[in-house]
Amino acid sequence: MLIDTYGRVATDLRVSLTDRCNLRCTYCMPEEGLQWLAKPDLLTDDEIVRLIDIAVRLLGVEEVRFTGGEPLLRPGLVGIVQRVAALAARPRMSLTTNGIGLRRTATALKAAGLDRVNVSLDTLRPAVFRTLTRRDRHQDVLDGLRAAHDAGLTPVKVNTVLMPGLNEDEAPDLLAWALAHGYELRFIEQMPLDAQHGWKRDSMVTAGDILASLSTRFDLTPEGTDDRGSAPAERWLVDGGPHRVGVIASVTRPFCAACDRTRLTADGQIRTCLFAREETDLRGALRSGAPDEEIARIWRLAMWGKKAGAGLDDPAFVQPDRPMSAIGG
Ligand code: 5AD
Ligand code: SF4
Repeated sequence: MLIDTYGRVATDLRVSLTDRCNLRCTYCMPEEGLQWLAKPDLLTDDEIVRLIDIAVRLLGVEEVRFTGGEPLLRPGLVGIVQRVAALAARPRMSLTTNGIGLRRTATALKAAGLDRVNVSLDTLRPAVFRTLTRRDRHQDVLDGLRAAHDAGLTPVKVNTVLMPGLNEDEAPDLLAWALAHGYELRFIEQMPLDAQHGWKRDSMVTAGDILASLSTRFDLTPEGTDDRGSAPAERWLVDGGPHRVGVIASVTRPFCAACDRTRLTADGQIRTCLFAREETDLRGALRSGAPDEEIARIWRLAMWGKKAGAGLDDPAFVQPDRPMSAIGG
């Protein structure tokens, strides 16, 4: 098991497959992009599958989420999913994507064994999408969402970040749209993970703001915190149900005490938290021929050192060196 000194057990593994992306969301990357990882530094498909096998067979991981950057930019993705689906201790598998490549790949991903997708979409207005992501790809995301839904990668979840002055007034429209299409909408508070370090605590749109805005058009009933478990989204029934909306309040209502995550970066580093300031290298051990048990031991030791919380609301908080795109969402 991957247990830490606070008694938390990590069963959910986030695997970043690339740090590259075809969008440039302002809360994530600068316009010119970033210095991408060099190919020899990236884990190979074989190395990724081996690490996932170790995680599920020796370390108790039950769920694998592929992330990026944009994971659909990884050429071997379908093959990786297929090989993980064939493991004796097959984990549940999902993908966090900006949706652009899904129209082409949704059917193949489903056939390979992927269970679900989370698609990021922040606005229903193409012009705002262009400002937020610096690319004119709004329709591609909508098409990708439909393809994922039609392929049975369900429930399709939509992740939305609200930014002051850009899309902060869109929460009710987005919820009405998600309900009409059968997508499960979750708002994520903007976190200090942008490469440009432009995040400001006092101007961010908070969970409180989002709920107040939604309540102008919808009747929200809390689902109760008992079932929240380690799921970061707090959920509300919309107009009495059965549809729900989620809010991931990483900043104003952190859920660190219930965290069940362990993270692997595209260059083979274990991170115990999105906001950790240290990483533990697994790639070196892999490439120097370490046996599975040795890699499992290094992974356990890394998780044992997991901190109690991220402390985003603490004035002493220091942002991690790597941005979201290099850590994995
Ligand atoms: N704060 C909150 N969410 C972010 N994401 C990317 N950067 C940030 C940030 N700074 C979101 C993306 C995507 C998921 C992987 O994380 O929009 O939905
Ligand atoms: Fe790409 Fe996601 Fe970053 Fe947007 S938030 S630039 S889609 S990695």
